[in-house]
Amino acid sequence: MQDFNGKTAVITGGASGIGLGLAEHCAQLGMNVVLGDIQKDALDQAIVQVEQRQARVVGVVTDTMVKTSVQNLLDEATEAFGNVHLVFNNAGVAAGNSAGIPVWEAPDADWQWVMGVNFYGVLYGVQTFIPHMLAHGEESYIVNTASLAAVMPMGGSYGVSKHGVLALTEGVQVELEQRGAKLRAGVLCPGFVDTQIFAAERNRPGAETSQIDSDDPQLAAAKAMLANGKSPAEIAEYVFQAMMAKRFYMLPHPAWDDFVRSRTEQILARQDVATMDLVAMLERSAAGEQF
Ligand SMILES: NC(=O)c1ccc[n+]([C@@H]2O[C@H](COP(=O)([O-])OP(=O)(O)OC[C@H]3O[C@@H](n4cnc5c(N)ncnc54)[C@H](O)[C@@H]3O)[C@@H](O)[C@H]2O)c1
Repeated sequence: MQDFNGKTAVITGGASGIGLGLAEHCAQLGMNVVLGDIQKDALDQAIVQVEQRQARVVGVVTDTMVKTSVQNLLDEATEAFGNVHLVFNNAGVAAGNSAGIPVWEAPDADWQWVMGVNFYGVLYGVQTFIPHMLAHGEESYIVNTASLAAVMPMGGSYGVSKHGVLALTEGVQVELEQRGAKLRAGVLCPGFVDTQIFAAERNRPGAETSQIDSDDPQLAAAKAMLANGKSPAEIAEYVFQAMMAKRFYMLPHPAWDDFVRSRTEQILARQDVATMDLVAMLERSAAGEQF
């Protein structure tokens, strides 16, 4: 896809972080922007921010865990702007209170929430928007946000949900290509990006939120690396270049390449699970490398 001006983009999780970065980039390219997000106050602020770029913007309070809410997002988008050409299934969360807990001890509520937003939210986006984009037949792109966690041995709810997004999106792209569709799919697998992801519990539904945070040292290290991560604007720039080049796998953080390679080699060598040297990574991150 090369021409974005005057087309319409829908972005879930568009009120913050990577989603907001994508929205601002869409606005800069002259697109109509539809932001779907569960957090009403942040959504209202994001609309103002994106409008400052002279874009036509609509905000729709959306809970991507709920299929009818995603359908409502499509309905509102088409009512406002007609055909949708870009869909970023981007909303995602991480369960802070599962950090440092063995995978078999993590609460069911964490699994349900994280899988609900990160995997089912993307699935509902795929089920809802693809028939619309196939029906109008214009050049379009659907980009699902996974994570580098999708290509690494990361077995908690976050990693499992992101592996699911990767597999789902690979399946979608194969089917689209078989049909000769003008719609392409892509999967975004970022490393650390400086966003509000570690405060995701702010939008957790229900009363089951037990702990906002954890004193797990791995989480502390991850937070430090997040602060040194790429900016949402850099990710947005990368994603648009990737779409113009018709890339499927979108990995904006080359610092992880060696690890992804060694993990793949471990699999093909029928060896043990690859492990990361977190201390070395932290040192490299503090020295300016963006993981
Ligand atoms: N920040 C990183 O380092 C990083 C790395 C890899 C992947 N990701 C992924 O990027 C995506 C965006 O996250 P971010 O880092 O910008 O975090 P963020 O917290 O800044 O933004 C996430 C947005 O999603 C919204 N959201 C949460 N639950 C929702 C729901 N049920 N329905 C609709 N919206 C909901 C939030 O309100 C928020 O606006 C997520 O899928 C995340 O897993 C982030």
